[in-house]
Amino acid sequence: MVIKSAEFVKSSGKWQDCPEPNIPEYAFIGRSNVGKSSLINAMMNRKDLAKTSQTPGKTQLINHFFVNEEWYLTDLPGYGYARVSKVQRKDFEKLITNYILNRKNLVNLFVLIDVRHTPQKIDIEFIEWCGENGIPFSIIFTKSDKLKPNAVLKNVENYKNELLKTWEGLPEIYITSAEKKEGTEAILSFIAKTNEF
Ligand code: GTP
Ligand code: MG
Repeated sequence: MVIKSAEFVKSSGKWQDCPEPNIPEYAFIGRSNVGKSSLINAMMNRKDLAKTSQTPGKTQLINHFFVNEEWYLTDLPGYGYARVSKVQRKDFEKLITNYILNRKNLVNLFVLIDVRHTPQKIDIEFIEWCGENGIPFSIIFTKSDKLKPNAVLKNVENYKNELLKTWEGLPEIYITSAEKKEGTEAILSFIAKTNEF
């Protein structure tokens, strides 16, 4: 898919404040610092459309971007950020889960996972939660430029095996680097395919 336009629409502090759910929507979720905002920028060929930071917890609201005047791409706050208070973490979780459960036009949720790590409990639990709630999702591995190609494949394989302990099949899986702009076209093709743009 060629990106002709991508514009910031609004930041929302609760799901009820999000834009009218009248066009298809795709959202990025994952742990703080996994690279959600960076990958959105890479996909949109923009440097600073979504705000990024080396410090986890940068994105704290639901951010909507309007792409090609046809669909929304949504940047969500990260989950599992340890350095905020328990109350604040609960508030983030509520914001994210309410959005996911209530957003009627959400076509697919992309769950981002840092490819450098062994399967983490918090991600596995989040994926289980998506399954239990019937949320359509795919998995995107991020930061592939930080490992040698063999190590990337080995970690992805590990993850698949972990998922197959509880799932009969596997979701769509993408391997990406925002830094090197790799893997972004496959995600855009999936989006185009699921909506026939
Ligand atoms: P929160 O908004 O805090 O939840 O984080 P986020 O998931 O949006 O992460 P963000 O895109 O802000 O990136 C976090 C850090 O990882 C930044 O320092 C990025 O430059 C870096 N980063 C993101 N993607 C990549 C990648 O593909 N390769 C490398 N090497 N660094 C990356
Ligand atoms: Mg972010």
